[in-house]
Amino acid sequence: MAQMLNIALPKGRLGEKVYSMFEKAGFECPSIKENNRKLIFENEELGVRYFWVKPSDVAIYVERGAADIGVAGKDILLEYEPEVYELLDLDTGKCRMAVAGPKGFKDDIRHTLRVATKFSKIAQDYYSSLGRDIDIIHLNGSIELAPILDLSDVIVDIVETGTTLKENNLEVISTIVPISARLIANKSSYKFKSEKIDRLVKALASQKED
Ligand code: PRP
Repeated sequence: MAQMLNIALPKGRLGEKVYSMFEKAGFECPSIKENNRKLIFENEELGVRYFWVKPSDVAIYVERGAADIGVAGKDILLEYEPEVYELLDLDTGKCRMAVAGPKGFKDDIRHTLRVATKFSKIAQDYYSSLGRDIDIIHLNGSIELAPILDLSDVIVDIVETGTTLKENNLEVISTIVPISARLIANKSSYKFKSEKIDRLVKALASQKED
């Protein structure tokens, strides 16, 4: 029987796109396209097993070895710094991490800046590098509400099209870092399954050049 490669994919639109890339790379698993609520799919012949994971959990599965490889956003890798190998930038799921605030916002350095975010570490690292004192308000979603309700002065969040900011009368103040989806591997899996993983990495990398 072929050696099994366990792959954690982020559930949702990005994951479907990524699966198509894996399929083209020769790691297909047709049953995954049956639209049901199953979370785990296997192609025994090829030795691949896929599971759909909440995007922000992919790195945990890979770090702990429940998955050999997976696809996670650079935002998650920067925020949680999981002990994994980052093998490839998939050049998809592109967006940026940015500071945003009410239109025309001016930072008053006499006061501690109140920053609402889901990405506390990224925000803290960014403002530490600027030597700016901040007060982090950690939220789990709808971050854009915080400055509107004066819960915070600014937010640090993901901006993709900019529509969410615009519809809430906010604008980008500065970009912190560009974000995209990365292929990650468990460190010991990469030792023991390196041949198969390298074959996948090469095939995915060559798709990027097409
Ligand atoms: C992200 C982010 C913004 C939005 C930005 O949320 O937090 O709210 O996308 O996208 P836009 O620039 O294209 O409008 P996401 O939908 O990923 O989920 P969340 O609300 O759970 O953070």
